[in-house]
Amino acid sequence: MNTPKRVLITGVSKGIGKAIALDLVQQGFEVYGTSRRPDLLTNKIGGVTYIQLDLSDESSIERCFHELSDIDMLINNAGQSQMGPAEEISNNKVREIFEVNFFGTLSLTKKYLSVMRTKRSGKVINIGTLSGTFAMPFQSTYGSSKIALRIWTLCLRKEMRPFGVHVSTIEPFYINSGIQLEYICPDGSDYKAISDGVYDQRSKNLSKAVPPNQLVATVNKIIRAKDPKGMYISERKGRLFNFIGRFLSGTTIEKIACKTAGITY
Ligand SMILES: NC(=O)c1ccc[n+]([C@@H]2O[C@H](COP(=O)([O-])OP(=O)(O)OC[C@H]3O[C@@H](n4cnc5c(N)ncnc54)[C@H](OP(=O)(O)O)[C@@H]3O)[C@@H](O)[C@H]2O)c1
Repeated sequence: MNTPKRVLITGVSKGIGKAIALDLVQQGFEVYGTSRRPDLLTNKIGGVTYIQLDLSDESSIERCFHELSDIDMLINNAGQSQMGPAEEISNNKVREIFEVNFFGTLSLTKKYLSVMRTKRSGKVINIGTLSGTFAMPFQSTYGSSKIALRIWTLCLRKEMRPFGVHVSTIEPFYINSGIQLEYICPDGSDYKAISDGVYDQRSKNLSKAVPPNQLVATVNKIIRAKDPKGMYISERKGRLFNFIGRFLSGTTIEKIACKTAGITY
């Protein structure tokens, strides 16, 4: 088995990224992890080398690559989440999310592709979301940024394969990670009542969700696979949803998405 040794994980200050970093350190990988403010972190993981990275800042991406250019595996975990009525979210806010979840992630990845391509080996794992597949209401910006990332990942995968570089996406649905969220819905908005309801339902769904270690198990599956698949769904519930979805009509899937979000009409 060709096991990668030097790993860069983005967004290890908390949540899923932190859980992945902890697990890989315990397994003996050489782990580098990023945060926008590593200097402020009080609960660093021993064995992780911290690097400053802000995906919305090209110069920060450049510095990160300069600090660490030779890696065997890149795990693009860092991301930002946003919720609110599509009509109420300004294009500038949409751009902010795309800057981090899509453009910044692309910039960072492209830098390491040349390194991996030259070595004719390497793995890239991008963390997407299954909520994009179900087009969850009031998550239009977040969902579309991650769907864009999914398509980019799956195209890239086919381009990198001849060079021995494996590219995959992991798509969780709900993980109880304490995920940060920017909620945008002004007082007085016509959407306020329904949007607040969806926000509360999402919090409930997250509090009942599985811990990050289910996703960590999927990362390990990819690390150990000789020929990893393009897309993985980390939790059993998500896999079930995705499987059942293949046999249902669009109308039924829409009803399930709305029910999961707490909307009935
Ligand atoms: N939790 C879920 O249910 C769920 C479901 C589907 C997909 N996901 C995806 O899984 C990934 C991890 O989510 P999580 O639940 O662990 O979220 P989280 O707890 O909010 O952690 C997000 C991480 O991203 C980093 N980050 C945020 N903005 C950044 C920026 N501009 N540049 C660089 N890093 C930045 C943060 O680091 P600093 O603040 O230290 O910079 C933090 O470590 C995300 O991509 C998320 O979209 C999560």
